Amino acid sequence: MPFKTVLVTGGAGYIGSHCVVELLEAGYEVIALDNFVNAVGNAEGSPALQRVEQITGKKVTFYQCDLLHKEALEDIFDKHTIDCVIHFAALKAVGESMQQPLMYYQNNLLGMLNLLEIMRRHNCFQLVFSSSCTVYGEPESLPITETHPTGTITNVYGRTKYFIEEMLKDLSAADNAWNIIALRYFNPVGAHQSGLIGEDPTKEFTNLMPFMAQVALGKKPVLTVFGDDYATEDGTGVRDYIHVMDLASGHVAALNLLNSKHLRIKAFNLGTGKGVSVRQLVGVFERVTGAKVPLKMEGRRIGDICAMWADPGLAKEELNWSAKFTLEDMCADFWRWQTMNPDGYPKKLKHSSCNGHSK
Ligand code: NAD
Ligand code: UD1
Repeated sequence: MPFKTVLVTGGAGYIGSHCVVELLEAGYEVIALDNFVNAVGNAEGSPALQRVEQITGKKVTFYQCDLLHKEALEDIFDKHTIDCVIHFAALKAVGESMQQPLMYYQNNLLGMLNLLEIMRRHNCFQLVFSSSCTVYGEPESLPITETHPTGTITNVYGRTKYFIEEMLKDLSAADNAWNIIALRYFNPVGAHQSGLIGEDPTKEFTNLMPFMAQVALGKKPVLTVFGDDYATEDGTGVRDYIHVMDLASGHVAALNLLNSKHLRIKAFNLGTGKGVSVRQLVGVFERVTGAKVPLKMEGRRIGDICAMWADPGLAKEELNWSAKFTLEDMCADFWRWQTMNPDGYPKKLKHSSCNGHSK
């Protein structure tokens, strides 16, 4: 029987909230949970998910719940028949993960373990896991296919993704009931076209696109370019930037495949297949938005790699998915979100229509 109800962990976060839009539009019922460690919200609900309801005209059942609190998580599974889980909830800051490794291992690994244990107890064996291109480490060849070796990672955050992938392989080898897709995202950027939802972390952020937008808004004086001596066309680092709404539709495609096939476990790259340098991205951003981004050249950032982009062929073949949005769309949509919401989401919630019970 096709899935009906999907639990989205980390649903108030950046990628989670965009994915909920696509899930609702595809006809799924969505239960979302978040503990607000990196998203705006409180026991009343999440402004991001309220806006998702505004965009879609559909309801999201929301729970303030920490995956480390097993009883609260179990309560959600007791209350709802959950067919499938999309697991976004994790800590994701590379620098912080190096300073506080135990916090990262506890949150990301224990959160995953609790979720798997409770899913199994409730006969829910369908899972989509948010992995990352970071599992590949320094690329041995480009573009990167899913068969590229994984595991030689230099940071704790990346290792939590790799360890979870290994854990999931062990689980699916031991128990045939599981049906799991790990999606290895390349560099998610952009925002929903409405400008109503976007990226608004509560923790400090260091990624290129949000930082560049803060500079363009005048909130930060200058964009520091980390290294202009890489072996790339213009010397700056190259990445595969992918629109967050393309990423969201990749999750719906993953659910379609889980619905139709027993895979046990399979990993897919979600990227565009195009490498873009820092200078190129800044150039497109300035052209599309008309804003100026002053640059300052500095040395390489520790732990950065030179260049990485995906081979998205497997996702095209088996998920019947490919990225549609251009770099121009990514910049224009991110900028719309930033200019419409220069201070991010409102910190005070409207009376909540997110109707789950908070934990
Ligand atoms: P995000 O921080 O915006 O979203 C994650 C959400 O999970 C946050 O709202 C946070 O409050 C919540 N959360 C964290 N720990 C939790 C816990 N123990 N219990 C309940 N909620 C918890 O991050 P995002 O960019 O939306 O990323 C989503 C997922 O995708 C993460 O797993 C991340 O590692 C992965 N990913 C992100 C990127 C990226 O660049 N954004 C790239 C590759 C992979
Ligand atoms: C970072 C994480 C990676 C994670 C990915 C997506 C690090 C070391 N790696 O990767 O684990 O999977 O985000 O979330 O943090 N840049 C600048 N100036 C800035 C910011 C970035 O020049 O102020 C450059 C970087 O050197 C890089 C590119 O922009 O070449 C992209 O950087 P970023 O957005 O931080 O993503 P990644 O480094 O790919």
